[in-house]
Formats: sequence, structure tokens, C-alpha cells
Amino acid sequence: MRTDVTEIGYEDMSPELRALIVYEGNGALDVVSPQAAIDAVRAQSPVVRWELGVGFFGMDDVLAAAKNPDIVSANPQTGVPFGMGSEEPLIPLHFDGESHRRFRKLLDPLFAPKKMALLEPAIRKLADELIDGFAGAGQAELHDQFCVPLPSTVFLTLFGMPLEDMPALIEFKDRILKNEGVTMEEREALGVAAGKEMDVHLRRRLEERRATAARFDDLLDTFMHFELDGDRLSDDEVVNIMHMFTIAGLDTVTSSMSCILAWLATHPEVRHRVVADPSLLAPTIEELMRVESPVPSGGARWAVRDTEVNGVPVKAGELVFLCWASANVDPAVFDRPLEVDIERPGNRHVAFAAGFHRCLGSHLARNELRVAIDQLHRRIPDYWVTEGEGIRFELAGVRQAIHLPVSFAPAP
Ligand code: HEM
Repeated sequence: MRTDVTEIGYEDMSPELRALIVYEGNGALDVVSPQAAIDAVRAQSPVVRWELGVGFFGMDDVLAAAKNPDIVSANPQTGVPFGMGSEEPLIPLHFDGESHRRFRKLLDPLFAPKKMALLEPAIRKLADELIDGFAGAGQAELHDQFCVPLPSTVFLTLFGMPLEDMPALIEFKDRILKNEGVTMEEREALGVAAGKEMDVHLRRRLEERRATAARFDDLLDTFMHFELDGDRLSDDEVVNIMHMFTIAGLDTVTSSMSCILAWLATHPEVRHRVVADPSLLAPTIEELMRVESPVPSGGARWAVRDTEVNGVPVKAGELVFLCWASANVDPAVFDRPLEVDIERPGNRHVAFAAGFHRCLGSHLARNELRVAIDQLHRRIPDYWVTEGEGIRFELAGVRQAIHLPVSFAPAP
């Protein structure tokens, strides 16, 4: 029998807990450094049971729930997913069990580490071209000039979508993930409306492809020629995957890169060490992914039948909420969890989730982060927040440094 389960009504929850558990946009979490508040939520109530279900905040429970086959990501009653601008379950996130395994078997090889490593020269060249655009000025707004264009260009190129689609797709994705709706229902309705418009756009791109007999070396071509049990995917299924990838892949790397660069710009002593010894860059990125947790929480999950998570009973139909960000600062797993230690041994963070729905794009994301930041450091080793300006963060589903003004000695 667990003694650390807090039973609480929604009305009695702290604003911080509401912001985490039902994504209430109440501004309670300090967006600049939310880690201490997230840590306090877990320390106070590692497991929260409220009217709709159960929330897990500690690493052990988060891992157990993420690996429990009775906890699924499509609402077992309605089949309708939540929060991604779609009324249809998205492939692969809203599939479970055997059908999820089959989709991941098709998709995983496309994002395998060796395949992603081949992208390094192209990512480095793109980073270099972007740096050319500001190196001579001695100043840059790294969010707009680096963190947005680099991952979006890599992603759209890999995807096979024209680069001119970038602003429209970013706008659709923003209207889905961070619209003006106040209640959960309003936000969902606005998100689904934006998602439908985005699907019209994606379908047009697919139809353009269908109209040509040429083959292309990109994901869109691959999706169009996927075979599942001998059948090609339908147009609806291809648009569905395109929708999923646009939401999951278009700016999660932007968010992560902006958080990491904001931290490095304000911690020169660590940055100097990393610049002097580039072998420290990969572990520094891992440690900052842990502490910053740019995707703080998982999407909605439900118990499909009565089950339990490390002794906590979960009833069929109940919502299950998982908090990656609080698991990432759990002192049961990490020593001095709120401190950044770039030499932290065995850093088994869950910034890319865990269990069945672990991020498909993590190898691509890690590669982009490492190569882009390495190239920036080669050209501009010393940078700081521009005097009289400040870094601005936003937390809307994902956490991002949306204004990142830096200065540096003009570089060739
Ligand atoms: C640093 C960047 C990224 C972070 C922090 C991140 C994080 C995550 C997280 C936390 C999940 C689990 C969501 C949940 O449990 O509800 C996830 C799933 C997923 N991510 Fe990522 N992601 C990143 C980049 C990408 C990229 C670049 C792509 C695509 C190319 C991508 C594709 C996906 C897909 C398809 C899933 C669903 C996997 C499944 O359900 O089996 N992600 N990601």
C-alpha cells in the first residue's frame, strides 16, 4: 500500500500543479527556471489522484507507467486523441500494442543513429551559412537567426517539403499547440480547427507528389511507398503521419537548442570548458536536456483496463499523466538534481520520454544539437546576452527561449 498518494480535487490544486497536470495556462510556473517549482511539486506529491485520474511525477513511477501495456495513448472510450490538433489518432503516437509496434517497425529505421549521422556534413554546412549571416555584426538574435531556421530547414528538407512552407507550417503548429483558448475544451477546439487547415495544406503537397512519376530521396516519398501487410498507406494515412511529424519534429529541436544556448550564454565558465574540449559538448547537451526538459510532460494517456503502477491502482478509463520534467530532477535518481553537472555519470534522463512512445526523432535531434552548437562554438566561441536586453522564455506545451539576443566579438 503506497502512502505517498495525494488525493486532491482539481479546485484545491496549487496553480503550479494545475499548470503541469492539465496544462492550465495560468502563468504559475516560472518560465525562466521552472525546475525548482517542478521539483517541489514532486517532493510534495509524487503521485496525485484527482477527479479525472492519476498523475505520476517520480522517475520510478513515470518509467513503470510508460512501460505498462494497459496504459494507452488513445482514449479507449472515444478513440479521439487530445492536444495534437487531430480528431483521428495520429501515427504512431496514438496507437498502442501490436499496431503501434508495426508502425514503429516501419518508421524506426528511417531515424536510426547511423542514418542520422550521415546528415552531419549538411547540418554543419547549413549552420555555417546561418552563422555567415550574423558573424560580422557582433550581435545576433539566436532564436530567429539560428534556432528556428536550422532545425526547420533540416526537417523540411528531410521531409521533402518546400522551404517556402516553413512560415505556414510553424503558424499552423503554433495555433495547434499554443492558441488563445482558455479552457481545455476551447484550446482543443481551436487546435483541431487549425489542424484541419494544416491537413488541407499537407494533402495538397501529397497530391502534387502523386501527380509526378518521379521518385525522391525523402520521407514523403518513403511514406507514400510504405507497405503494411502488402498494402500501400492510403492518402489519409500519409497525411496523418505528415501531421504527426510536423507537430513532433518541426520545432522541438528549436526549443531545445534555444534553451541550451540560453544556458551556455549565461554560464561562460562551463561554455569555456566545452569550447576548449569539444568532447564535453555531447554530455553537456544531455545534461541540459535533463535539466531544461523542453518537453515537460507526455500527452494524455488512459488505463484501458484496471491496472496498477508500482502499487498505485489505476482504474479502467482513468486518465494517466506523466511528467518527464519532474522525473528528470528526482533526487532518488540524480545527485544534486537541480545542479548542472556536465560530467554527471549515467545520465539516464527522460527528456525524450521513455517506454513505448519514446521519441522517434531523438537521434536526429541529438545530432542537430551537437553539430549546430559545435559549429557555432568554432566560429563564435565567446558570446553573452546583449547588454540592456534580456532572454525571454515561453512555456506553451514546450519550453523555448523565444528571444535570445547575444553579442560577441565580430568574427570572420
Ligand atoms: C530535442 C527535440 C525533441 C524532443 C525533446 C522530443 C521529445 C519527445 C517526447 C517527450 C515524446 C513522447 C511524447 C509522449 O509521451 O506523449 C516524443 C515522441 C515522439 N517524437 Fe520527439 N522530440 C524531439 C524531436 C523529435 C523530432 C525531430 C522528431 C521527428 C523527426 C520527433 C518525432 C517524434 C515522434 C514520431 C514521437 C511519437 C513516438 C511514438 O509514439 O512511438 N521528435 N518526442
